[in-house]
Amino acid sequence: MLPHDQENSSNIHGGSSNVLVRARIDSISLQIEPNGPTCNVSPRVNDDRVSDHQQSHHAKLSILRESLHPVTLKFEDVSYTIKLESNKRGYFSSHQQKQTRMILQNVMGIVKPGELLAMLGPSGSGKTTLLTSIAGRLHGKFSGTITYNDQQFSSSMKRKIGFVTQDDVLYPHLTVLETLTYAALLRLPSKLTNQEKIEQAELVIMELGLTRCRNSMIGGQLFRGISGGERKRVSIGQEMLVNPSLLLLDEPTSGLDSTTAQRIMSTLRWLARGGRTVVTTIHQPSSTLFRMFDKIIVLTEGCPIYYGKSSLVMEYFASIGYAPGFNFMNPADFLLDLANGITHDTRHDDQHELIMKQDQSENQNATKQSLISSYRKNIYPLLKEEINQSCNRPIRSSSTST
Ligand SMILES: Nc1ncnc2c1ncn2[C@@H]1O[C@H](COP(=O)(O)OP(=O)(O)OP(=O)(O)O)[C@@H](O)[C@H]1O
Ligand SMILES: [Mg+2]
Repeated sequence: MLPHDQENSSNIHGGSSNVLVRARIDSISLQIEPNGPTCNVSPRVNDDRVSDHQQSHHAKLSILRESLHPVTLKFEDVSYTIKLESNKRGYFSSHQQKQTRMILQNVMGIVKPGELLAMLGPSGSGKTTLLTSIAGRLHGKFSGTITYNDQQFSSSMKRKIGFVTQDDVLYPHLTVLETLTYAALLRLPSKLTNQEKIEQAELVIMELGLTRCRNSMIGGQLFRGISGGERKRVSIGQEMLVNPSLLLLDEPTSGLDSTTAQRIMSTLRWLARGGRTVVTTIHQPSSTLFRMFDKIIVLTEGCPIYYGKSSLVMEYFASIGYAPGFNFMNPADFLLDLANGITHDTRHDDQHELIMKQDQSENQNATKQSLISSYRKNIYPLLKEEINQSCNRPIRSSSTST
C-alpha cells in the first residue's frame, strides 16, 4: 500500500516528475549548511532570505497553525462487532462455528475545534478501532453516528483529516527530507510556490526535532535506518504539513523518551489551539503529558468508563468511590488500573499500604461492570444532552455492514 499522501499520485516515482522532484530536493541539500552545534538548517535561497528565515520562523509556521475549516466532531453510540470464524473439525466432518465479538459498545463524545482529546485504555480496549472509525476507514459491522460539523463522512471531509496510524507507512529508501518534501510538494495547495512548500517541509523537520537525521534513510526490515521514534515523528510531520482540520493520531508518543513525547504533545496542543480538532490515542502518558489533554475518554473492553475534562476525572472517580491509594499518583496510571479492573484498596490507608487485587479476576470483572454502569448512569445522559444541544441539523443514523 502506498503512503496516504501518495495514494493519488502513484506515478511520482517514475517518469519525468520524479526527476524534477529529486533535482529539486538535491538542490536544497546542496544549499544547506550546518549552523552551529545543533546543525539547524534552512533552505538558502539568497542571503536576505536566510536572515529573514531565522526571525520569521514562527510567523512562517503560522501558515500551518491556523485551521481553515474548523471541525466539530461528534460520535454517538458507536458500536462495532466482528465475526469470529472458528473451525471445529471432527474426524469425519468439519463445520464452521460463527461467533461475534463486540469491539466497541455505545461510545460517545464530542470534540470541538481547539480541543485535544486523548483516548486511554489497556491494550485491546478498542482505541485504534474507535480512531479508525472516526477517520472513516472502518469496514465491518459498524453502527452509530459519526458527524463532522453535523455532516456525515464525505470525500471533501476526508481531505481535511490527517491520520497518523499506529504502524508507520513510509518508503524505506527515501531520506527524512525527501519524504517530507514529497509530501509537501504533493499535498500542499497549489497557491504556494514549490519553494514555499519545500520551506514548510524544512520547518516541520525543525519543529519535530528531526534535523540530525534529515538526510538519513527511513530504513525498513531489510536495512537499518532512522530510529523508531524518529519514524513516528516523520509520520506525524507528513500529516502536520497538510494542515488538517481534524488530526487523528494513533499512539504518537509510543517509543519516545519523555522529553520528546512532551515536545510532540505540546506541538499537538499548539495545533489544536490554532482551531484544529485533535484526537489521539496514548499509552501510559506521564503526569505532565496528562495535564496537556483537554478531554479524555477511557475505555475498557470497548466500553467507555469516562468521558469528559481531564481535570475532572479524579474528582469523578472519587465521587463514585474510587480513589488512588496515595496522593501523588499519576492519574493515567490510576485510570489504566481502573480500566483493567484493578482498584487500590485504601482500607489500610493509615499504613499507606496498597493491596492490588491483581489475581482476582472475578473482582476485576465486577469492578469493570460497576464502572461501566456508573458511566451509563452519570455521564451518558449528560453527554447525550450536550451532543443534542450542540446539534444544528438533524442527525442521521449510519450503519454499514460488509
Ligand atoms: N478485524 C479484526 N479481527 C479480529 N479482531 C479484531 C479486529 N479488529 C479489532 N480486533 C480486536 O479488537 C480489540 C481492540 O483492538 P484495537 O486495535 O482497537 O485495540 P487498542 O486499544 O488500539 O490496543 P493497543 O493499545 O494494543 O493498540 C482487540 O482485542 C483486537 O484484537
Ligand atoms: Mg491501538
